[in-house]
Amino acid sequence: MLKILILFICVFFSLGNATHNNSPTMLHLSYSKSSDKMFISWKTNQNVPSTVFYGLSPSNLNFTNSGFSYSYHNGSGYFHFCIMNSLLPQTKYYYKVGSEIYSDVFSFVSAPNTLTPFTPFKFLLYGDFGILPYSNSIDIITKLVEEKDIDFILHIGDLSYANNYTSMTKNATLYPIIWDIFMNMIEPVSRKIPYMVTPGNHEASCNYHVCNTWARGFTVYNNRFRMPFNVDSGYSNMFYSWIFSNTYFISVSTETDYHDAPYKYKFGDQTKWLKKELHKAAKMKKEHKISWIVVCGHRPIYSSKYTHSKNGYPIADSLKVQKFLEPLFHKYKVDFYLSGHVHSYERIAPVYKSIPSKGGWAALDSTGYIVSGAAGCIEGTTFNNQWTNTSWGQFHSNHTVHGIGMLSILSNCVAKFEFYDASGTIIDQVDIKKQYCDSG
Ligand SMILES: [Fe+2]
Repeated sequence: MLKILILFICVFFSLGNATHNNSPTMLHLSYSKSSDKMFISWKTNQNVPSTVFYGLSPSNLNFTNSGFSYSYHNGSGYFHFCIMNSLLPQTKYYYKVGSEIYSDVFSFVSAPNTLTPFTPFKFLLYGDFGILPYSNSIDIITKLVEEKDIDFILHIGDLSYANNYTSMTKNATLYPIIWDIFMNMIEPVSRKIPYMVTPGNHEASCNYHVCNTWARGFTVYNNRFRMPFNVDSGYSNMFYSWIFSNTYFISVSTETDYHDAPYKYKFGDQTKWLKKELHKAAKMKKEHKISWIVVCGHRPIYSSKYTHSKNGYPIADSLKVQKFLEPLFHKYKVDFYLSGHVHSYERIAPVYKSIPSKGGWAALDSTGYIVSGAAGCIEGTTFNNQWTNTSWGQFHSNHTVHGIGMLSILSNCVAKFEFYDASGTIIDQVDIKKQYCDSG
């Protein structure tokens, strides 16, 4: 049954793709290091020039910029990248991309200026999100982006699950096709708001020896997206940071570049980079230039699933991630660690060394943890009998639930987290207030 479905997907996609010619497809926005710039990426079948046209009116796209294109493998297409510069803060811009054949005109709202007073914002967060029919959350993601003024999306690792399809069928050509299906699926939202990504284990390689020659080492993940990285992070999407409004965001790789990391691919000295980033973020917080520090990484430190904790203490991969990250979170007062990997939703009490903080979410004084890995994928969800009792696990979804999280930063002191199931029902929520915070 599964192989018939995959065959259907391939035939359907191949027929559809034959008519695309060099039309720009799979458009996706992402933030840069500067709030006055926005990245735009897309794909064409052949190598043509990369150009973006943008402006304040759909009929007057009077700014233009050229970028570049690249390919990681013959037959996987060409990936284009351009920067839209000198954007006014919080302003609606219209844009189209292409060369000779252009995309439709789309729009986005630029980021707030980080030097001006605080602007409230909200973003969706989830990991472990594949293609239909398993990606049950795409409708609620689209609906929330349309109706809730979502500023951006954090996809915290495991995108498309293309490697599962390749290894199941032993068909290397399927790998870029599944990636394309995924990128097309998210395009209605990713061309409208930035789609920020974090590496997960499913991005490591295609898990089949033929395509592993060109798809291993996070190659596809690093070619199809363009995050705000810099020289310290080895010019890759593996770890990077950016500031949005009053919040310092840091995306880390729980897959590579720390002691005992699951994969031995090397992208840079992540520990040194992270210490530098957190030092900078903590200094900015002290100087009241930012108020929140949010770190996202694919693998959780705290998860009550039996494969991740025993008697309330992280084990296995979670223990390794804990050793890498938790001392730094404690030292630099990180407010949230957002992750996925476990295919369910779990809200964890603010906690340090497995001891929940006294103030909880109402008087946040240590890192609060959210595991949001229930967006939907071919591997299914966590079974109800796989949970263990812990002193810090506060709520988890049951195995029938797919869904996504939404974090609203409401002021310099107050935030709110909600988890939506795929039908749009909020199944869990928590109000968050920092301890000793009175500036808003
Ligand atoms: Fe994962």
